[in-house]
Amino acid sequence: MFSVNLKGKVALVTGAGRGIGRAMAQGLSDAGAIVAVNDIDAASAAMTCGSLNSDANPYVADVADPQAVQGMIDRMISDFGRLDIVINNAAVEPFASILEMSIQDWQRALDVNLSAVFYISQAAGRIMKAAGGGVIVNIGSIAGHNIPIALRSGYVASKAGLIGFTRECAREFAAYNIRVNTVCPGVIETEMTAHLRENKEQMAKWLADIPQGRLGIPEDVVGLVLFLCSDGARYLTGQAINVDGGKVMM
Ligand SMILES: NC(=O)c1ccc[n+]([C@@H]2O[C@H](COP(=O)([O-])OP(=O)(O)OC[C@H]3O[C@@H](n4cnc5c(N)ncnc54)[C@H](O)[C@@H]3O)[C@@H](O)[C@H]2O)c1
Repeated sequence: MFSVNLKGKVALVTGAGRGIGRAMAQGLSDAGAIVAVNDIDAASAAMTCGSLNSDANPYVADVADPQAVQGMIDRMISDFGRLDIVINNAAVEPFASILEMSIQDWQRALDVNLSAVFYISQAAGRIMKAAGGGVIVNIGSIAGHNIPIALRSGYVASKAGLIGFTRECAREFAAYNIRVNTVCPGVIETEMTAHLRENKEQMAKWLADIPQGRLGIPEDVVGLVLFLCSDGARYLTGQAINVDGGKVMM
């Protein structure tokens, strides 16, 4: 695994109870950072915490709730006195045609996948500005680019919006020495994609379009995230970087 030294840094990873979030929390912890593990699900957050090199407690909160977000950031500052890195990873993926999708499912996708990133960037940005800098990594998706992903209009809209928000945030926060980027994974083997991977015919078509010839695993995303959190990426901001085995080439 690619390694960087993040000793002395404090990082927040949202949706870190399982999947890519858990792998990133592990990677950041292995790199020496103190990691605050957020998830809406208390049991899975506790499981991730148990596997890290720290005795930090889970930060159980719904990131779509602005008050809960402020409470989580306040608690981090009270627990650790600083916040250097934020990984906005939590997301939901409602599955329905536009004609069938409920207003609640549409709204939830935008709330969790996009508005939450604004709430956290605002709360964390204030702390980072006062401290003289920081790093924000948003976990987007290649679905945020123009590639066909059926029956996920809320998810696709939120991930496209996230790429736009990342650019604005990067422009505004550059003056405060805060870098903001989006990482866009292709299909990664997690619970989120379990149903997709069950459709063998669809998967064969999808795989045929991946030059590296395989789906990703959560650990495939970690190296890029660690790099973006490191000083090696000091001149890199406002980007949406794909990690997808070459499926989407920009
Ligand atoms: N798996 C993929 O193929 C894939 C592809 C592209 C992008 N992504 C992105 O990567 C990120 C992680 O995906 P994953 O596959 O690990 O997903 P996952 O569904 O396996 O895990 C998501 C985690 O987020 C948590 N969560 C959901 N809503 C939350 C909320 N409101 N507040 C706090 N936590 C919440 C869930 O409890 C869960 O632990 C997401 O942003 C997703 O859109 C995943």
